[in-house]
This record gives sequence, C-alpha cells and structure tokens, in this order.
Amino acid sequence: MLKLGVNIDHVATLREARYRGRGKGEPDPLAAALECERAGAHGVTAHLREDRRHIQDRDVWQLRERIATRLNLEMADTPEIVDIALRLKPDSVCLVPERRQEVTTEGGLDAAGQLESLKRTCARFQEAGILVSLFINPDPEQIQAAARIGAEFVELHTGAFAEGFASTQLRDQELERLARAAETAHGQGLRVNAGHGLNYQNLPHLLERVPYLEELNIGHTIISRAVLVGISQAVREMLALMKGYALQEGPQRR
Ligand code: PXP
Repeated sequence: MLKLGVNIDHVATLREARYRGRGKGEPDPLAAALECERAGAHGVTAHLREDRRHIQDRDVWQLRERIATRLNLEMADTPEIVDIALRLKPDSVCLVPERRQEVTTEGGLDAAGQLESLKRTCARFQEAGILVSLFINPDPEQIQAAARIGAEFVELHTGAFAEGFASTQLRDQELERLARAAETAHGQGLRVNAGHGLNYQNLPHLLERVPYLEELNIGHTIISRAVLVGISQAVREMLALMKGYALQEGPQRR
C-alpha cells in the first residue's frame, strides 16, 4: 500500500513568522502531526535545517516522543545534524542537500559526487537501526551511486515534474524520467519514495505512470489546503487520491 508521510515544516514556517526565537507559539507542529496521524497519515516528516528556519530542535524531540507512526527526519549530512539524528533516533532519515539561500530544498543530493562521505554516514545510521533514504534527482548515475552507498531507499525528486506540469511535453518527459528511475532503482534493490512539489492536481498523473512507489512525502500542498478545510480533511483528500495505487503490479491504470 502506498504510504503518505506528511511534511509538517510549513506549520513551523507559519509559527516562526510570528514567534521566532520565543521558544513557543502557534500553530504547533506536534498538534498538526497528531491530527495528520488521526486522519490516516502513515508517517510524519520534518526537516531540521542547519539554519533552523522552520522546524526547531524542540519540535523534533516532541515529535519523537509523541507520534505513534513513523518519524522521518530530513537532514543535511553535516556533523551537527548527524549527531542530533543519532541521538534522536528517527525511524528513518532522508539525506538532502542544503543551501542557505534556497526557499526550500531545490535539487537532489549529489550522491555520485559524495560517495565516500555518504557511505560513512549511511553506515553510522544503519548501525543505529535507522533506515536511510537519499533524496536524488531521477538520474541513472545518482541511482547507481545510492546503491553503492548502501541506502535502503531513494526518494525521487519530483520537483522538475511539478514545475513542468503545465506543459504536456515537459510533464510527459519528466514522468518518463521518473518511471525509468523507479524501475532502475527497484532493479538495484532500492526501495522507492518520491516527493517535492506534489499536489492534488499533479499526483494522479504521477501515480498513473511511475511504478514501485512505497511512500510519498508531501508538505506544502497539504498545509495550504489545510488553511481552507482543516488538516484532517486535507490529509484525507490526499489519501483518497493515493488509494488504488498498486505497488507490485506497477503503475496504476485509469
Ligand atoms: N521530500 C523532500 C526531501 C523535501 O525536501 C521536501 C520539501 O521540504 C518534500 C519532500 C516536500 O515537498 P513539498 O513541500 O513541496 O510537498
């Protein structure tokens, strides 16, 4: 069954817009995460950025203590954050690139270019019983690198698909690229997740074409929809779109 991990970073973005540096404030990412779980989400994802622009350290510790599903920590491969993650013990980590200037995570990780250091980090997490996912562009060389690094999962970056969605040609091109990447990853023994820029409009197209997806990590569109209909309803609507996706049989057919 295709799983939904709700990325709650933007709940914290809204809180920090008013309460930065105050150690408290609303809306509370933990309360949002608990609502997501009650609505049927399979996990919660949070990105503890080096610049702490949205999620704060106290958030991840509260999440770890209180959520009943799985905690997926998005993070850069830096000594400070790796140290926190090893103490926090999320169920999984998703290693992402981070640049201070970006509004959100923009490109995939250069797994091929950082093979040795990622191998070491990956092994440290695995020794601690934490699953490792690498957030990569849907490119063959990155997938080969992820397999060599020994990660359990790749999270295919769907940003280019989301950006190109308005153009039928670009959309098809990106869907083809994602489908091939999923097949290659599966063939290499990697488990396949996807995320970034997915929304209520583009998701059905992805699910129709891309096989072997295990989990989607979706944030912005759910939090945006939550402003209008509440977070439970926003999660339920997303889960309804995901129902019927057949993991083993390959792409869902309409
Ligand atoms: N997956 C990863 C690795 C991400 O960095 C992000 C964005 O923080 C997401 C998923 C969720 O993206 P969006 O907020 O566009 O749904």
